[in-house]
Amino acid sequence: MRLKMPFPAPPDFASASTVQMTSQHLPQVLNVEQSAYSHPWTQGNFVDSIASGYHMPVWFQGEHLLGYLVAMRGADELHLLNITVAPGFQRRGWGGHMLRTLIDWSRERGVHAIWLEVRASNRAGMALYQAHGFDLQGERKNYYPVSSNQREDAVVMGLQW
Ligand SMILES: CC(C)(COP(=O)(O)OP(=O)(O)OC[C@H]1O[C@@H](n2cnc3c(N)ncnc32)[C@H](O)[C@@H]1OP(=O)(O)O)[C@@H](O)C(=O)NCCC(=O)NCCS
Repeated sequence: MRLKMPFPAPPDFASASTVQMTSQHLPQVLNVEQSAYSHPWTQGNFVDSIASGYHMPVWFQGEHLLGYLVAMRGADELHLLNITVAPGFQRRGWGGHMLRTLIDWSRERGVHAIWLEVRASNRAGMALYQAHGFDLQGERKNYYPVSSNQREDAVVMGLQW
């Protein structure tokens, strides 16, 4: 008789493949983006990021898009602009895996700090970053739209080494 597992099996990170995002991925990326955010990036935001040469790995498991991130590299700093795990794959460790991969990628290229903004209400995002050593660095008032007449603060977080 097989024992029932109390929790889902941990993800098999080696089973995922990674490619740099191109315009070919945009239909799938936009589908995930629109299901993951109240205020998703537009197609234009992704097109501009690709044209700017940003670091934009996309993770797949077979046909399924697991997640992606968008990072803008400066001389020795990196700004994480977007990190998203497809809703059906969230809370299984993929976000942490993607973030660790980005930290390793940055270290290998002489980057010494990663900065990001996160909505003050985004507890999952903040918990993910804190679990990977990011600290609160400050806030930007009324940074994100909420509705036509309401905005929300951003929390600035950073990881330096
Ligand atoms: C934030 C996000 C990227 C996290 O990815 P994920 O694959 O779900 O995260 P993981 O399973 O790797 O979780 C890593 C840690 O993050 C924290 N975390 C993740 N989701 C959480 C949630 N819903 N509530 C509280 N903590 C959470 C936990 O500390 C977790 O560790 P644990 O599971 O051992 O407790 C994902 O939820 C997401 O894409 N959300 C929508 C888009 C978004 O908000 N992106 C960030 C914008 S700044």
